[in-house]
Amino acid sequence: MTHLYNFGLSQEDERTEAAALALGAYGSQDRVLSVASAGDMPLSLLALGAESVIAVDVDPRQLHLTRLKAAAVRRLDREEAVRFLGFMPASRRSRRRWLRDVLPALPPDARLFWEWHEEEAVRGAIWAGRYERYIRWLMLLVKPLVGFRLFEPLFECDSLPEQRACFERTFDHPKYRAIFRLAFHPRVYARRGIDPRSLQFRSSEQSLGDQFFDRFRALCTATPARQNHLLQLTALGRVQSLDSVPEYLTSHGFAAVRARADGLACLAEDLLVFLERAPRGAFNKAHLSNLADWLPQLRFEQAMRLLYARMATPARLVWRFIHVDRPLPADLAGKIRIDRPLGERLVARDRFPFYGVVPARIDTAHEEA
Ligand SMILES: C[S@@+](CC[C@H](N)C(=O)[O-])C[C@H]1O[C@@H](n2cnc3c(N)ncnc32)[C@H](O)[C@@H]1O
Repeated sequence: MTHLYNFGLSQEDERTEAAALALGAYGSQDRVLSVASAGDMPLSLLALGAESVIAVDVDPRQLHLTRLKAAAVRRLDREEAVRFLGFMPASRRSRRRWLRDVLPALPPDARLFWEWHEEEAVRGAIWAGRYERYIRWLMLLVKPLVGFRLFEPLFECDSLPEQRACFERTFDHPKYRAIFRLAFHPRVYARRGIDPRSLQFRSSEQSLGDQFFDRFRALCTATPARQNHLLQLTALGRVQSLDSVPEYLTSHGFAAVRARADGLACLAEDLLVFLERAPRGAFNKAHLSNLADWLPQLRFEQAMRLLYARMATPARLVWRFIHVDRPLPADLAGKIRIDRPLGERLVARDRFPFYGVVPARIDTAHEEA
């Protein structure tokens, strides 16, 4: 089970981040800093109204993937892009042809990377991530034991109460909890399914399998399954239709990203290094993914101080966490203001509700504070 990068797909619901950042308000010209991960979030934030996005990731492979997705939007038509990237099936021949169309739109280092890794692109680039490979492997293992149509009834439901009843009938059995406990036991999961750095600060007493099973229930029952591309990709290994895709691949979002294609910048750099030398006022919104889980407390605090010093105001920020709900340092109290009730409302309708969501704002410019 080799992988090309950690994340083939941003496992985050871009509508949550867009709402937390208040993107797309009439007349707004938001400049967003985004932790790139698999690239879907920066592109979807452009689709949802950001004027420009700086996508930063310390791992250059994640940015090669981000650039591939951006180039697919530029060079292919919408259905081709959806199929090329692996959201829906396509023949190897078609993907190879689409890759030839996309390569000239890439900068030299990303082009070389994808020429070298043509096979992964031909299998659908979103499936070359460590996490995605693990989930696919789990499904291959589990479905023959419990039934190949395991998830299908969920997608036949017409309402959330029907989805809840379906979940109770299908999944509310000790055997599924046991599968979760095994598959997401930190020792197993960190070896095969996720970069171990994402688990290094976990200290919860609750088993990770139990925590994930409870969130899996919300994934299956809290939002309409037929409109949740993240659930569909996890459960079915594809989206059900061209209408169930991340925002940058919807017809509206696709056109918006094409129109703002020059608004995306990709930087392979540590976030703190980037922030140290970023000019003040270069961006007014920040999407930080679940960096709270990846950074030790002192570096998280340093990132927050730098964001406070660098962002144009009024500013909005949002981060997520699965394992560690990091507090702000005392010197930022009242300067960065966290909106917990908004975070809870956003989690309740999030289409990948495995995280806590922390929206925050900075109202007053640094020097005036
Ligand atoms: C925080 S992780 C989580 C991924 C997310 N949960 C998802 O599903 O896409 C997202 C990205 O953060 C990047 N990252 C971690 N620490 C970083 C840092 N200090 N500076 C920049 N990027 C970082 C990782 O390389 C990874 O690609």
